[in-house]
Amino acid sequence: MANVTVIGAQWGDEGKGKIVDWLASRADAVVRFQGGHNAGHTLVIDGNVYKLSLLPSGIVSGTLSIIGNGVVLDPWALKAEVEKLEGQGVTINADNLALADNCPVILPIHRDLDGLREAAAGSGKIGTTGRGIGPAYEDKVGRRAIRVCDLAHLDHLEPQLDRLCAHHDALRAGFDQPPVDREALLEELRGIADFVLHFAQPVWKRLKKVRKAGAKILFEGAQGVLLDIDHGTYPFVTSSNTVSGTAAAGSGLGPNSTGYVLGIVKAYTTRVGSGPFPTELEDEVGKGIGERGHEFGTVTGRQRRVGWFDAVIVRQSCSISGVTGIALTKIDVLDGLDEVKICTGYRLRGNVYDYFPSHAADQAEVEPIYETMDGWKESTAGARSFADLPANAVKYIQRVQELIETPVALVSTSPERDDTILMRDPFLD
Ligand code: IMP
Repeated sequence: MANVTVIGAQWGDEGKGKIVDWLASRADAVVRFQGGHNAGHTLVIDGNVYKLSLLPSGIVSGTLSIIGNGVVLDPWALKAEVEKLEGQGVTINADNLALADNCPVILPIHRDLDGLREAAAGSGKIGTTGRGIGPAYEDKVGRRAIRVCDLAHLDHLEPQLDRLCAHHDALRAGFDQPPVDREALLEELRGIADFVLHFAQPVWKRLKKVRKAGAKILFEGAQGVLLDIDHGTYPFVTSSNTVSGTAAAGSGLGPNSTGYVLGIVKAYTTRVGSGPFPTELEDEVGKGIGERGHEFGTVTGRQRRVGWFDAVIVRQSCSISGVTGIALTKIDVLDGLDEVKICTGYRLRGNVYDYFPSHAADQAEVEPIYETMDGWKESTAGARSFADLPANAVKYIQRVQELIETPVALVSTSPERDDTILMRDPFLD
């Protein structure tokens, strides 16, 4: 099985970008299967910087890039991203970009609602990316979404829009907002339809063909397991399933085709937005790690919260997502510390937990149980073999591997593509 599914095993921002780029350069097709333009990563190729949010990572190198039905698509954001990349010399056409025609569309009213709810929630806000992701998924499961294929039938759209707008009007009234201007919305959709339809097709069929031809497919997950709508730190989560199982449902290829599951794991922990974070460091050590790790959000520019490595949540994520092996990233950010800590369990009201409990109050209250290890003063940056690593860094990696009960397949030692220690090749395993 030559296919690989990449997922984040923490709260997103694990450094998927670099690993996905490396894998995408060897794949024949790259598929996004959930989330939307709340994701973000930066590609640096031959000194040129490309920023991607919605488009799969293969697009810059001309690899077939597929946006699956599990994604929520903002057509105007897609157009802006395509035009920006074209301005940088990237060719994007219906041969190298396919968009699922059953993909739900994010409309301006979704962005409005996202913003209104966050503003009204005050200190209880989720800290969303403000892109309308949650409201768009709500309309999908509420069976009132406008989907890409609907744009090919604009003459039938009015009754659908009426149903959708009736729902939004009621919600907007609660925020003292005027009803949706249906004519203006219809006009905006008329204006974008041709652009979107140029790429639209039954993606499941395209994937079936690709698979039959023996191509290597890379499924590119966004966010992380702890932001999963079912398995994450609910309600401080995104609105899609971020686990590996979504690669099948969100693309239209069966679960027997999604291959090796590579979990991306940062050597420490970060989170952006609100919600529980047991190993969070609000001291100078955390500040130092955040600075060395350039921990600012790609999409919103927000400063990320930083903490020690939490083996409990990563073990749980690896189990829930059936992770075959992990890529451990940003180990070099821990260089120079006197000691490093790993959370091995939690204490909660006199009990010891070896898992992250489901209730939000319990998640907020658990106290981490730490194991302390000696740090390393030598640099790991740029190491390309285990022999290049300081002994204490090797001990740290081995201990992580043991505690999460999942093998380390790769270690990333700098943002450069080649600064990687490869133990197992996911495409060959
Ligand atoms: P939403 O996906 O915009 O609804 O945001 C919900 C939560 O997921 C917030 O805490 C966001 O900060 C977080 N989130 C969404 N996308 C990403 C991402 O790509 N990386 C990290 N966090 C994200």
